[in-house]
Amino acid sequence: MCGIVGYIGNKQAKDVILDGLKRLEYRGYDSAGISLFNMRQQIFDVYKDQGRVDKLAKSVLKSPRSNIGIGHTRWATHGKVNKENAHPHYSHSRRFILVHNGVIENYKQLKEQYLSGVTFLSETDTEVIAQLIETFSNTLNIENAILTTLRLLRGSYALLILDQQNPDLVYAAKYKSPLLVGRGKEGITVASDLMALIGYSEEYLPLDDKTFVVASRDNLKLFDINHKSLVPNFTKIDMTNGDVERGEYAHFMIKEIHEQPSVIRRIVTNYFDKDQSLINNQILKDIKGSDRIYILAAGTSMHAGLIGKNLFEKLASIPVEVHIASEFAYQQPLLSEKPFFILVSQSGETADLRACLVNIKDQNYKVLTITNVATSTLAREANYFLELYAGPEIAVASTKAYVAQIAILALVAYELSKKTFSIREELTKVALSIEKFLSDENMRYLTRNLLTHRNCFFIGRGLDYYVGLEAALKLKEISYIQTEGFAAGELKHGTIALIEEGTPVIAMISNPRISHNTRSNLNEVLARGARAIRIVMSNVAEEDDEVIIDEVHELLTPMAMVVPTQLISYYAALERSYDIDKPRNLAKSVTVE
Ligand code: M6R
Repeated sequence: MCGIVGYIGNKQAKDVILDGLKRLEYRGYDSAGISLFNMRQQIFDVYKDQGRVDKLAKSVLKSPRSNIGIGHTRWATHGKVNKENAHPHYSHSRRFILVHNGVIENYKQLKEQYLSGVTFLSETDTEVIAQLIETFSNTLNIENAILTTLRLLRGSYALLILDQQNPDLVYAAKYKSPLLVGRGKEGITVASDLMALIGYSEEYLPLDDKTFVVASRDNLKLFDINHKSLVPNFTKIDMTNGDVERGEYAHFMIKEIHEQPSVIRRIVTNYFDKDQSLINNQILKDIKGSDRIYILAAGTSMHAGLIGKNLFEKLASIPVEVHIASEFAYQQPLLSEKPFFILVSQSGETADLRACLVNIKDQNYKVLTITNVATSTLAREANYFLELYAGPEIAVASTKAYVAQIAILALVAYELSKKTFSIREELTKVALSIEKFLSDENMRYLTRNLLTHRNCFFIGRGLDYYVGLEAALKLKEISYIQTEGFAAGELKHGTIALIEEGTPVIAMISNPRISHNTRSNLNEVLARGARAIRIVMSNVAEEDDEVIIDEVHELLTPMAMVVPTQLISYYAALERSYDIDKPRNLAKSVTVE
């Protein structure tokens, strides 16, 4: 969704900002804009339009040198995708210029109450903020004009503001939408995502809600919403440009698929000191003291949650419910007496989950967030947090985060179990199995011949069914083929009516106890003209099975079984020449409900 980057320092601001915005492109957007200081005319210029950052870069090619600026990528929520609605936005006299991530829920009331007679240039909720600051600046100094405005806003915001009368300062504020300040030898960068700071800042400060920042070239002042000074507490950035670049790979998605074995190994290394687990004991105590775990998540993370349910129930005998966050947030089911909540999220910013978190905390229940982003809102606001250590996941289609989420859920469940096997060894075997499979280049050929239809089915039973759900989401989101993941035994109860000559059906088979049932269901669709491929684990493989994965522990099969399906999705999109890393209509981090 929207991205924000601002800079003040010794470098060319447009280089830092455009570079940052490019790094945030993966989040999804439809317009881009930037404001830079024009020394000759002593004003901030604004360049913006719908379209990509590359187009914006061309429009500022000849802009004068500026050491200060703010930039934005917009994912439309209020108002059409057009130049007027793109950020930055001006106040009516053009004194204030700002970019905004988030949604101002009460913008209509604010307009009516404070801004009657003001002519608006856009249809956005954001513009109201610029207009209010200008209105209040007639009677208040700039800092108080901004703070007075902030106190009136309902909703969420990450804001960067420029003032034509103070052209050597960047103002920033945050509430619910993420915003981080980066500090380096060459200046201060403020951005909505750590990725935009890498290479420019040595340390970073994730802002808390309701903080207000005034940044100059060599100084940073931090306040709370009541204008009380706060002491910034910076953390060293330990990522390099290599972590956020594609390197030899054609797309981030394929890079991230190939990183999965090393992600699993990193998790094993980071969560163990010799044989001793490093998972916070209090998390385990709290789970033991609960009578039911509720796993809440969205999309791929919800699919990882389903695997987690099986792990906790089988290993630790704790009942688990898995819920879609957007449903749970407004339709909370009847809870058990002593619930424990686990939020699973790659980004740690998913707004549907944040809505759940607020409700859960209001009810005083304990929450653990499992996420890839240590600085994220969900990591910081939960009682406990476990990091995925997957490294930045940039492709919109989530791959390595899914595998990492299952690994972390497995580690927690294992610590609560009788420990009849070594989880470290079993995870290491999964890494090996994936690695071996990834060296086989047959998947592209198989995909090309299979996925010629406009629809497709993944079928399986038990854990394979859950993997099928994830496989279907992946295929539809990047190849736009209508795909369903289906419980193999349920097909004959209605959906088999959709099978016709040539319909692709991909069967997932990993469990020896039920493999023959899935094979029977597959025969039923083959008899009706389906074209199938079988993805099977080596211990249940039969002659003619197309894709065989080396056997892994029965509770961890999804981590390995999912990999061929990721490749199927990747190659299906590649064959169609689609924008694999940035599929249409989607955003990496879904920060609106
Ligand atoms: O950042 P999160 O894990 O909370 O995001 C949840 C979903 O939006 C995400 O998994 C989405 O389904 C992916 N694009 C799927 O590949």
